[in-house]
Amino acid sequence: MNGPSHSKNNKALYIRFNKCFMQARWLFTLMILTATIPAFAQTLAVNGLTCEYQRNPVGIDIMRPRFSWKLTSSQRNTMQTAYELRVGSSAEALAQGKDLVYQTGKVSSDRSTFVEYEGPQLRSRMRYFWQVRVWDDHGNTSAWSPVNYWEMALLDAADWTAKWIGTPNPADTVNGPSPLFRTTFNLSKPVRSARLYITSHGVYECFINGRRVGNDHFTPGWTSYKNRLQYQTYDVTTLLTSGTNATGAVLGDGWYRGQLEKWKNIYGKELALLYQLEITHTDGSKTTINSDGKWKTSEGAIRSSSFYDGEVYDTRFEKKGWDLSTYNDKAWRPVKMMAADQSKLIAPVGPPVKKHEVFHPAKLIITPQKDTVIDFGQNLVGWVTLKMKGRPNQIIKLEHAEVLDKAGNFYTLNLRGAKCQNKFVLKGDAERTYEPHFTYQGFRYVRIKGYGGKVDTSKIRAVALYSDMAPTGTLVTSNPLLNQLQHNIQWGQKGNFVDVPTDCPQRDERLGWTGDAQAFSRTAAYNMNVNGFFSKWLKDLSIDQREDGAVPWTIPNMMPKTSAGVAGWSDVSTIVPWNMYLVYGDKRLLEQQYASMKAWVGYIQSVSVDNLWNTGFQFGDWCFYSPSPTDDSGKAAVTDKTLIAEAFYAHSTQIMIDAARVLGKDDDVKRYSDLLKEIKKAFMKEYVTPNGRTVSSTQTAYLLALQFDLLPEDQRQQLADRLVKNISDYGNHLTTGFLGTPYLCHVLTRFGHDDIAYTLLLQDTYPSWLYPVKKGATTIWERWDGIKANGDLQDPSMNSFNHYSYGAIGDWMYRVMAGINTDDVRTGYKRITIAPHPGGNLKMVNAQLETGYGQVSSKWTLNGDVMNLTVTVPVNTTALIVLPKAAQVAVTEGDRPVKEVDAIRDIKKDGQDLKLEVGSGTYNLKYNMARSMAGM
Ligand code: BGC
Repeated sequence: MNGPSHSKNNKALYIRFNKCFMQARWLFTLMILTATIPAFAQTLAVNGLTCEYQRNPVGIDIMRPRFSWKLTSSQRNTMQTAYELRVGSSAEALAQGKDLVYQTGKVSSDRSTFVEYEGPQLRSRMRYFWQVRVWDDHGNTSAWSPVNYWEMALLDAADWTAKWIGTPNPADTVNGPSPLFRTTFNLSKPVRSARLYITSHGVYECFINGRRVGNDHFTPGWTSYKNRLQYQTYDVTTLLTSGTNATGAVLGDGWYRGQLEKWKNIYGKELALLYQLEITHTDGSKTTINSDGKWKTSEGAIRSSSFYDGEVYDTRFEKKGWDLSTYNDKAWRPVKMMAADQSKLIAPVGPPVKKHEVFHPAKLIITPQKDTVIDFGQNLVGWVTLKMKGRPNQIIKLEHAEVLDKAGNFYTLNLRGAKCQNKFVLKGDAERTYEPHFTYQGFRYVRIKGYGGKVDTSKIRAVALYSDMAPTGTLVTSNPLLNQLQHNIQWGQKGNFVDVPTDCPQRDERLGWTGDAQAFSRTAAYNMNVNGFFSKWLKDLSIDQREDGAVPWTIPNMMPKTSAGVAGWSDVSTIVPWNMYLVYGDKRLLEQQYASMKAWVGYIQSVSVDNLWNTGFQFGDWCFYSPSPTDDSGKAAVTDKTLIAEAFYAHSTQIMIDAARVLGKDDDVKRYSDLLKEIKKAFMKEYVTPNGRTVSSTQTAYLLALQFDLLPEDQRQQLADRLVKNISDYGNHLTTGFLGTPYLCHVLTRFGHDDIAYTLLLQDTYPSWLYPVKKGATTIWERWDGIKANGDLQDPSMNSFNHYSYGAIGDWMYRVMAGINTDDVRTGYKRITIAPHPGGNLKMVNAQLETGYGQVSSKWTLNGDVMNLTVTVPVNTTALIVLPKAAQVAVTEGDRPVKEVDAIRDIKKDGQDLKLEVGSGTYNLKYNMARSMAGM
């Protein structure tokens, strides 16, 4: 080593160090300054901006988009008193307040969700930038929020210059090879930005210069294709290059012409692509690349694909580099020009399907029948990826199953006609990852065939795919079985919210069954943000609704028109819009669905005689408890189907009254109020004895009568007593099916029977929620006894292990057990109720919910009689905290008696409860229940 240069280096190092140190000191001082000064000035801030349910959406076609934002404040008890919103056509100008397209000025209002754009007409393709600032009731003004944006899609049919293209293949080649389409184009000028507007008949994946466009799956998604077809908008600026570019797409049958139940080719026989790439150059000029007669088509490695049956991917048919400009497509054929139909095109309002959790194999099993099976430890929906090299012509077959049978063998009978198999035919070239494209499976176990040698589980994964809904709720308790139940409910939701709310994700069904969706909708809205998801689906509902108002069994409807108009299923048309209004405050959705809701109730009216709906087909309380194989003891919990119909008729009519009131339709309020009286009279006359017993002595009959207030008030308690007795007669078991289950614990709570609600919740023998948990379930089952106590499996013709309806108990767990609820007047959690109901020997329940205003949380712990409740109330909301068994003198926050806590605006005693009116903030409340009750 050279001495002098060493010391020179040292000196240089020292100077550098010193400089760094000085800089760091400056930085530190600066940090302190920025952290302290603005913190005082900026106690109030705006964040979490969304436009039409999304953050910075690209490609929407809503002409009066709605804006929402959330507030944070370092001060408790803070409400927004005013906002100012401004919109511009460039981010930089907007930040300086220049070149504004629209500004509200300061608007005195506490509104921070769904604030409508009221500026000049929005233009196709334009990106608009927006920001907002707010004032609060402590005299603070926030800084302007960060700049967000939204971008309009193509608003006019005339904006579409692309042509629909297809293949010259004979039509009706379901389960045939996936067609490839490609073209090349030259870009001589630099690109400033580029948008791709794309859709298909069938499902598509698109590529530019060898790279996949976006990361969505099963696009364009499933809608009522005959009336509405979504197209996606992608920012593809970074995928383009100067010189020659190549682009292409591959199509699968998807919902469009693939098999749905027993039908195929429902929407058409031929696959087709519509592709419009609009490029803006740095000099402002434009180039558009359209699907047209110049494109070419061929077939590739996807030899067949089907949601039910799976996919065959044969590498020997790969067209290597087909989506690159260097590829020689001489042998490709010209595309076939298809009939133009741009009028049905719409931009999406719901989230696309994306990849989510990735699972490593939990176990490799060799079954008694010598099958090689991987257990992923979780029943999930998606597919399996496999990394391998393989041998030439090697065929790997992956079969999927939800359960093993009693003997531990691979079990697929409950998949019915769905093959659920993915096949990869290998070339033996370099190691790479194989995965399917246009199919998905519902599975926990995968049987591998053709692997050859020991399966290398380190190279196998399961990937969950589902609609990209933001997670909003978490719920944890001190009871691990309940936590598993909550886990199962959430996974039931993930697996069945695949573009539409499906009944199940594995067998030859996977349809938008309406009854299941209505039963689960409120629970779903606790777990994830389903506002956009249901908004999209409800539009399809109103479009597929029959002219006479009957709502189809499944949406989008692919069944005969006669499959419509059933109690508890078709009522999805009133129940879900109302639920979305309650939990998100989405009034526009209610407005949009109002005609459909009205038409549905109108339909029931039209088929009723003397206000009794007792004709036509009904599903009834689907999957209710029934002892098998015989029912000698008469224990089957059969509820008269027409009683159920009448009860839901009343329920939907009540929702019409509530919705009409919200929308200011006074005539309808009166009209439906009169109608409801008649329906209730008819119910009483037909289904209730003079002593107040319903003609069906089942839990579901009692529940519907009580939940929907069908009996006069003075007869309700006796019916609740009958319910309690019935539960005890079944040895503290529930007997409800899809329609009764959502109301079971709510009704018990309402009539003062929390203890029984908890007994049912914690029951772990059949039928109960925890029985499947004890049997190792990782999702919610279709039947209470999908696996019987002796390990036998239920009848395979109807035995899904991923069916969310019974998971509707999740609503009670969040709403009652943890106690988080929205007010039904100031909806969307503008005003919150936190009313926890401790019980069931639980020591702790902790629930959090991300609402439109921010996070609400309720955590209670019970240590002996000492109750600790921690509550978070977001800024710009107020809450009513209801403390059970509490006296004011006993409740403290820290050392302070509750009445001295300034953000607590009012305290009232109501029976055993203490009611606190509070503003935003976090509260840590503590009291001794026993001492409270003893008067201290
Ligand atoms: C589905 C159900 C659905 C029902 C109608 C079944 O095949 O899987 O969940 O609601 O049909 O009764």
